[in-house]
Amino acid sequence: MTTLTADCADLTDPHTFLAPDAELVKMWRRTRSHNPVYWHRVQGRAVPGFWVLSRYHDVMEVYRDSKRFTSQYGNVLATLLEGGDSAAGKMLAVTDGRRHRDLRNVMLKAFAPRVLEPVVAKVRERTDRLVRRAVEAGDCDFAKDVAEHIPMATIADLLGVPAGDREDLLALTKEALSTDDDSGSADEAVVARNELLFYFAQLAAVRRKDPRDDVLSVLTTSTVNGEPLTEQEIILNCYSIIIGGDETSRLSMISGMRALMEHPQQWRRLTSGDVGVDSAVEEILRWASPAMHFGRRAREDAEIGGRLLRAGDVVTLWISSANYDEDVFADPGTFDLGRTPNKHVAFGYGPHFCPGAYLGRAEIAAMLLALRTHVGDAVPNGPARPIHSNFLHGYSSLPISLTPAPAR
Ligand code: HEM
Repeated sequence: MTTLTADCADLTDPHTFLAPDAELVKMWRRTRSHNPVYWHRVQGRAVPGFWVLSRYHDVMEVYRDSKRFTSQYGNVLATLLEGGDSAAGKMLAVTDGRRHRDLRNVMLKAFAPRVLEPVVAKVRERTDRLVRRAVEAGDCDFAKDVAEHIPMATIADLLGVPAGDREDLLALTKEALSTDDDSGSADEAVVARNELLFYFAQLAAVRRKDPRDDVLSVLTTSTVNGEPLTEQEIILNCYSIIIGGDETSRLSMISGMRALMEHPQQWRRLTSGDVGVDSAVEEILRWASPAMHFGRRAREDAEIGGRLLRAGDVVTLWISSANYDEDVFADPGTFDLGRTPNKHVAFGYGPHFCPGAYLGRAEIAAMLLALRTHVGDAVPNGPARPIHSNFLHGYSSLPISLTPAPAR
């Protein structure tokens, strides 16, 4: 078997990330020690290539500096290599400077505790019910029967989507964004994406007249320098909550479940109360690193890790490597639910730090609490199916068998 090294692997190709997790961890370890910052060529496309940053401190240096490294041309490889993102300047994730600060302040109002508290209470109830049902059934696909029903329902609560619309919304989201395999048609995905945007435009018009305590109402009624947000800004930022909050949280839960089954000693530490749920959540986020990379474009020449990056270059920040950097994490290849400190960058860092971090953490915490309450033992019951992506990492199917917890 040939050894996988990042500087000869094609990081634009989703197939590269179908290698076993342990191989990918080794690939990044070799990259950090031999070639931590390197130029990745792109074969067969009229694009020059991109920089790969694999070390924690280099990733952080770029993350904290949105003046020299902008998101305005896209923040993931696919759009950066295409030459730009059509939502630039309107959607939080691909906007910088003053407009980003203003839009983000509106968004953060929408993520205030008053809005989030009832949403998190529902996350706990929903997760507890789903896990209890899975235990009663004995066997389940944890991805489809449990994890799939949590983040999108949470986002629908957050956005204030009426109950009757939720099933359609879920179906559209799957079609627009699914990374389950490589068989989906690109045209169908575009149609579904446009329908989603149209749906939010209609709901925004309703909420503008009759605001409630939800994110969409905050977006439709807020002003920046006395001006309301444009319709495009409102609907693109609703869409960005779905893109940002659904699959990332879902994949974290699924990878967390898988890691717990693979590490029975850690499972026992969790269920015996030897480690707290909060530190377990952080280790699951580090271990899973569901968003493998984000990216920026350099606005000016800059030296990072001893290499000269030129103005205009695409720069990719590999979270899935930074979170295993031995200069920052002791024994990073060990899954340790009690790890402290644990300053992972699963939610990014700096001006674009994930505004959904509290909610993402609450979803994983709800899963761990429900597992601790209802599950005695969990074992795999078939192969886990990896998703097909060069951006996100995790599994779309995880068949497991569960036995009930003894009365604790
Ligand atoms: C475990 C779950 C999650 C992970 C791992 C995650 C990860 C991230 C990361 C790494 C970024 C930074 C992107 C960049 O630097 O370009 C980000 C940004 C963002 N996330 Fe999350 N996220 C999660 C959950 C959520 C949730 C639940 C929501 C919303 C409900 C959300 C909404 C967003 C938005 C809107 C941004 C853009 C922020 C900005 O550019 O200022 N995320 N997320």
